[in-house]
Amino acid sequence: MNAPDLTKDDRLGLYLRSTDTGAEWWRVSVADRPNTFRLEHGVEGLNGEAAVDIDLVVDSENLRAKLKKWHREGFAVQTFDAAPAGDTQQRTAFMPELQRAARASARLREARDGSHGTAAQTVSIGQLSVPCGAGGPLVPRVNPAYLFSGRFDDIVADIVENRRVMLIGHTGAGKTSLIEQVAARSGHGVVRSNMNGQTTVGDFVGFWTVKGGETIWVDGVLPTAMREGLWLIVDEIDFAEPSILAALTAVLEPHGRLTLKEKGNEIVAPHPAFRLFATANAVGAMSQYRHLYQGANLMNEAFLDRWRVYLLDYLSPVEEADVLIRTLAPHMTQPLAETLAAIAADCRAAFAREDLTSAFSTRRLLDWAELMLRTGDPERAAGPAIYAKVSPEDATLIRGIIRHHIAPAG
Ligand SMILES: Nc1ncnc2c1ncn2[C@@H]1O[C@H](COP(=O)(O)OP(=O)(O)OP(=O)(O)O)[C@@H](O)[C@H]1O
Ligand SMILES: [Mg+2]
Repeated sequence: MNAPDLTKDDRLGLYLRSTDTGAEWWRVSVADRPNTFRLEHGVEGLNGEAAVDIDLVVDSENLRAKLKKWHREGFAVQTFDAAPAGDTQQRTAFMPELQRAARASARLREARDGSHGTAAQTVSIGQLSVPCGAGGPLVPRVNPAYLFSGRFDDIVADIVENRRVMLIGHTGAGKTSLIEQVAARSGHGVVRSNMNGQTTVGDFVGFWTVKGGETIWVDGVLPTAMREGLWLIVDEIDFAEPSILAALTAVLEPHGRLTLKEKGNEIVAPHPAFRLFATANAVGAMSQYRHLYQGANLMNEAFLDRWRVYLLDYLSPVEEADVLIRTLAPHMTQPLAETLAAIAADCRAAFAREDLTSAFSTRRLLDWAELMLRTGDPERAAGPAIYAKVSPEDATLIRGIIRHHIAPAG
């Protein structure tokens, strides 16, 4: 074997030597940070099994030393003409290729929307055109102060495409209101079912009952929403009992049907306007906060994989100041709103550092601000809106944060 050429690309590859029982190899690939390399080591047995038993990242200098050592030990570099050169090329070719594919897909969607557009009435929400629903008493009230952040565009696109959407995030981050406000603006009726309480599989799927001497079937919330084309929000899905999750699984495919086993296996097909949503506080990426949401169940991966799961973070301070001004017009001013949004942001940062044990929701902020405008006194307003809801230690810390931003009246 020739000494390995130490120019960067030539060093990438598979270094192999035969052993009595099979082969031993080192694989050198590019690591995430510049000028670092990933080294993986494996031993291949006679029957071909080859698990990686060493996996480390080294710098250029360290790699040079390793290459010399492997050379001495009789490792020969595999010709990497096909695989590694292809790897590098493929790696750089991926993004331009994907961008071309995404542009083509967008053009196709536009053409499709254009050809349907005249028939179905739509309303614009963010960058999206959302088809309008049938209206009716279950359509939520429009909140004129509601702010559609650009971050919500993907979620709205999923609603249009009839995907199952699960929103996860801290309490009061805006999960329920996002779905309700999309429905409010597009005229779709919404029903909600909360899993953290007394919801039984009977309430959810349906049950037989006797009325006026006759035995009749009463549809639960799921078949009702499916037949009537309503939007169903399953709130706090991480508290649902297994029989409810089992019923839900059947309808998680976009056109999935529900079989009412208790009703002689009657099949319920979804109305085209039916949509299914779930919200949760402690699922998936939020699992690290499970201790704050006691009793929440872990959801299995197969179930989660049937949803598009979005982590909804609190609004940014700029967005939240905007929401304060819109919600509490005309009295909330820009300087007041900016200070209040900064206080909320500081409280959330303290929560993230685990200095505070309670999250600071947009709901809490709006309530405090409203009471403050009535009383003219932030401290007095903070009593019922904040302090009474948290531990004395948290109240003391939050009071400190508020004082840091608001000097007492002179
Ligand atoms: N983008 C927004 N624009 C205006 N107001 C908002 C926005 N997001 C949240 N809010 C306000 O925050 C309140 C709380 O939001 P919401 O009830 O949707 O939270 P949630 O995440 O569903 O909370 P929970 O987990 O407790 O159910 C809403 O009633 C609304 O007043
Ligand atoms: Mg909610």
